[in-house]
Amino acid sequence: MTAYQKLCAVLSSQPKTWLVTGVAGFIGSNLLETLLKLNQRVVGLDNFATGYQQNLDEVRRLVSPDQWRRFRFIEGDIRDLEDCRRACEDVDYILHQAALGSVPRSIDDPVATNATNIDGFLNMLVAGRDAGVSSFTYAASSSTYGDHPALPKVEENIGKPLSPYAVTKYVNELYAEVFAKSYGFNCIGLRYFNVFGPRQDPNGAYAAVIPKWAAAMIKGEDVFINGDGETSRDFCFVDNAVQANLLAAAADEKAKNEVYNVAVGDRTTLNDLFHALSAALAANGKPYIRSPVYRDFRAGDVRHSQADVSKAEAQLGYVPEFAIMEGIARAMPWYVSSERLQ
Ligand SMILES: NC(=O)c1ccc[n+]([C@@H]2O[C@H](COP(=O)([O-])OP(=O)(O)OC[C@H]3O[C@@H](n4cnc5c(N)ncnc54)[C@H](O)[C@@H]3O)[C@@H](O)[C@H]2O)c1
Repeated sequence: MTAYQKLCAVLSSQPKTWLVTGVAGFIGSNLLETLLKLNQRVVGLDNFATGYQQNLDEVRRLVSPDQWRRFRFIEGDIRDLEDCRRACEDVDYILHQAALGSVPRSIDDPVATNATNIDGFLNMLVAGRDAGVSSFTYAASSSTYGDHPALPKVEENIGKPLSPYAVTKYVNELYAEVFAKSYGFNCIGLRYFNVFGPRQDPNGAYAAVIPKWAAAMIKGEDVFINGDGETSRDFCFVDNAVQANLLAAAADEKAKNEVYNVAVGDRTTLNDLFHALSAALAANGKPYIRSPVYRDFRAGDVRHSQADVSKAEAQLGYVPEFAIMEGIARAMPWYVSSERLQ
């Protein structure tokens, strides 16, 4: 039995109250689904900046009416300290996901990204600390590795940030460390590497590569590759990220005040990703016969990214369950059936 399986068994018999911020978003709604299926009580906070009521509706359809009744949604904004305090009342574990994601969005509008990702983050830390929660886990990012060339990425070796978004995610880590020193409030940061899966937004200028390409392929539109296609990423199926969050929330004090890579420990080029997605679509009855269209590299993007996940394995008991191909196979039926990709 893995540490995660044991934890799920314990949680099912001893339900806790969780706060998931960004609950209407991609990762937040996947956390919600897993927690409700484990019969947990969940408070969700979201302002629908980039999240969707549809994501919540979909989770509702995937859980039982009894499980859904254990969910309380607060439409609110993490930039408002009072909303954060309200959401933290009587909560055991916080999983803080709310943020404005996307490197290009932060380059277009650094002020908005800063307000949510730094001011909002600080509000959540203050509210969580004052509410006396048992644990505070937050979404950090592989963008913190910035221009550091080493591969695979190990937690202690970071470079200079390459975008305003990366600055905000690094500042989160600095604030978390200072809250440990100043108030003894020990958090865990999870540096996600290119998470993908059902309910990730396929639309808009800031969509992530996998849902964006899947949508283009389903619609029979061009797929654009920024650069030569040899840029590589450690694509991480969302269930791996969910596992890391639950393990982090229940971790011992000695595993806290730390950051952990959350990925698979593998690397896939954009060229290989293109072929993997078109093969998976063909297997789901939607063949894509065009070649990709190559264009310029994108500002702020790192060339290669691959995680060393041994720290999370050793200290949290994290075992990534899904490699990229298994993740794509699981995500594809959602891409093919979701009205958001048609
Ligand atoms: N998806 C990835 O590959 C990835 C990689 C690294 C880090 N992250 C981080 O993981 C977290 C979740 O990302 P995601 O991919 O689910 O993105 P998402 O955009 O789908 O979810 C973010 C959610 O936060 C909400 N939100 C934004 N601003 C808010 C505010 N001011 N108040 C309340 N709610 C607000 C949005 O409405 C949305 O529902 C983010 O912190 C992101 O930076 C994601």
